[in-house]
Amino acid sequence: MSNFKAVLISRDEDKKQSVEMTEISTDDMMEGDVTVAVEATTVNYKDGLAITGKSPVVRHWPMVPGIDFAGKVLESSNPNFAEGDDVILNGWGVGETHWGAYAERARVNGDWLIKRPDGISAKQAMSIGTAGYTAMLCVMALESHQITPDRGPVIVTGANGGVGSVAISILSKLGYHVIASTGRTDEEAFLKELGAAEIIDRNELSEPGRPMGKERWAGGVDAVGSHTLANVLGQTKYGGAIAACGLAQGFDLPATVMPFILRGVSLLGVDSVQAPKAIREMAWSRLATDLDMGKLESLTTEIGFDDLIGAASDIVEGKIRGRVVAMM
Ligand SMILES: NC(=O)c1ccc[n+]([C@@H]2O[C@H](COP(=O)([O-])OP(=O)(O)OC[C@H]3O[C@@H](n4cnc5c(N)ncnc54)[C@H](OP(=O)(O)O)[C@@H]3O)[C@@H](O)[C@H]2O)c1
Repeated sequence: MSNFKAVLISRDEDKKQSVEMTEISTDDMMEGDVTVAVEATTVNYKDGLAITGKSPVVRHWPMVPGIDFAGKVLESSNPNFAEGDDVILNGWGVGETHWGAYAERARVNGDWLIKRPDGISAKQAMSIGTAGYTAMLCVMALESHQITPDRGPVIVTGANGGVGSVAISILSKLGYHVIASTGRTDEEAFLKELGAAEIIDRNELSEPGRPMGKERWAGGVDAVGSHTLANVLGQTKYGGAIAACGLAQGFDLPATVMPFILRGVSLLGVDSVQAPKAIREMAWSRLATDLDMGKLESLTTEIGFDDLIGAASDIVEGKIRGRVVAMM
């Protein structure tokens, strides 16, 4: 194929951003040792920020956005991959500094790819996507801190979002009592179906609060940051831990050290973008066993390639529930 369909983000001389669905020549692709036919992609919050230009996610112009894809290898000079291999890519700056997933073809560094695990289809891999794989990294961080189900409830903030909804599904399957914090309490039935035992209104946590409050949870997955994370930390039980991965409310952390020094609470940072390959492979193999694929299906909305630009705006406006998958 000499031309293929892609979403392209460009900037004019005044740095005004525009986005279009266009055709790109294979001759113009960026460097890489593996070329992949993209079969499925997804819409993460970061993709929304890139396409709307709301945050400076894109750092090379023009850019094909999309931080996640599942596809089949077409050509490879990388010793670890051969034509026909089923692969997944999450992060590594793809869709930010290197042309990404919102295209029929992607050429990337083979070291960024992992083989798609048995038992996970291309659609399921993208239904999980960076959001779901990050949720798994958060759960693994809690486990490494010995936050087991018998220690008490765990809170998940941003519950209806991609990270939150997958985190609830995994944690409930592992036997945790999950408290889901959401601004969309009308989605209670959906969240309970995913496995949430209790729902709280996110307003309880999103305003400036006291440095410490009643001990309510042993651990948590926070996709929201800002006052929410500060309040979550202040209500964590003695010796508990919170895995922080997101900034949906804000990137600030207006907290005190009191939960850390009086209750021995730990704040566990989680990054998916540069996570080493061994940790990625462990997270994906855990997803194959610890995520209920029926629940994954129920939190997934399928769209077409042509709907990607609109869905990217929707996610920034908080209109998307769960995960969105686009099949090529
Ligand atoms: N560290 C990493 O490597 C990594 C990887 C993936 C994602 N992230 C970050 O994690 C966050 C979540 O990603 P996502 O893909 O799950 O996004 P998402 O699908 O848009 O979900 C974010 C959720 O946060 C809640 N929320 C939105 N605005 C809020 C506000 N002002 N105050 C409180 N809650 C708010 C909403 O949940 P409710 O409607 O239920 O309230 C929303 O659904 C993003 O900040 C993303 O950048 C980081």
